Amino acid sequence: MPYIDIRDLTVAYGPMVAVSQFSLQGERDDRVVILGPSGSGKTTLLLAICGLLSHQNGDISLNGRRIDHLPPGKRKVAMVFQDGALFPHLTARQNIELPLRAAKVVQSECSSRVRRIAEMVGVEPLLDRRPSAMSGGERQRVAIARALVREPDLYVLDEPFASLDPLLRHRMAQEVLEIHLRLGVPFIHVTHDQSEALSLGTRIVVLCEGHIRQIGTPAEIYDAPADLFVAGFVGFPPMNLLPIERVPADLAKECHDLPRTPSAGSVVVGFRPEDVHVEPGGPARLLNRHVQGHEQIMVFQWDTVRLTARMKRGKSLDSESYGLSLPHGRLHYFDHMTGKRL
Ligand SMILES: Nc1ncnc2c1ncn2[C@@H]1O[C@H](COP(=O)(O)OP(=O)(O)OP(=O)(O)O)[C@@H](O)[C@H]1O
Ligand SMILES: [Mg+2]
Repeated sequence: MPYIDIRDLTVAYGPMVAVSQFSLQGERDDRVVILGPSGSGKTTLLLAICGLLSHQNGDISLNGRRIDHLPPGKRKVAMVFQDGALFPHLTARQNIELPLRAAKVVQSECSSRVRRIAEMVGVEPLLDRRPSAMSGGERQRVAIARALVREPDLYVLDEPFASLDPLLRHRMAQEVLEIHLRLGVPFIHVTHDQSEALSLGTRIVVLCEGHIRQIGTPAEIYDAPADLFVAGFVGFPPMNLLPIERVPADLAKECHDLPRTPSAGSVVVGFRPEDVHVEPGGPARLLNRHVQGHEQIMVFQWDTVRLTARMKRGKSLDSESYGLSLPHGRLHYFDHMTGKRL
């Protein structure tokens, strides 16, 4: 039996179904990342797993134990909320201790566990402060420490780094990764941030309007998106997506060799910006170019279509027009009607 086993989970607010028939299996060493736009049901899913929201259908098992009928305190799932949600009248130490006190852990054990976790998450100097005397990022770290101190069967983290600056965000993501490896407890982590998703997760679940669009490793999601939604949502700048009849003949000859099928008129062709090969002199006009670290993003107009390319910054490009091409085998095909990958 898989360590995490969620089957057909459906959660609704009155008549509005927010998560529909969600199924996920994962092992102890998995880090599951839920990726999806705002309103896609990510928080709803986590609340249902924790037992803070009741579900209409489906079952949840963890570590060989069915938990969906248990109250939140008995599920052994620890959640970090998006806004931290610390008790303002308690110090950091008292906030972190709360779950241990609720579980009636003896004082000496309590103190040593709080010290160990505070050191791991880097909040030791804050232990005697109240939340009002901490920055947003510090509060979030204390909230993470409070979840980690419980040693549960599963952590669920709802955009835990959303309020942090990019540098701290990156550091905390690395720390959570190390804590996972050290404690051997799996997590389900929700994020809007796809670079965080692709770097943290062993498995990614892409959610849209309460439905799973794809589950896979970061490489599977990026290299073989299951449908047009995943293709357009994962990857930045997004994949170029064009109806097949608008793909310039010189850009990718191979797509015009596609055998004609009954739906050939409604095929959408996709290719990633980093796969576009750019050379000075040709039919594409450069509309704009901006630098992002060691890379540059370029937007071209070619006949009636706009195309995005991404390449190393070093290449000097001062021409106004360019020739664009795609190496063989880098195209993705989708059915325009169903959105599915062909
Ligand atoms: N208490 C509620 N009552 C009714 N509808 C709700 C409630 N909470 C959320 N919803 C709706 O359920 C859907 C999913 O919401 P949810 O909060 O799970 O999205 P999310 O993916 O976490 O979004 P975000 O990325 O903005 O946090 C949305 O359409 C939302 O409007
Ligand atoms: Mg949310």
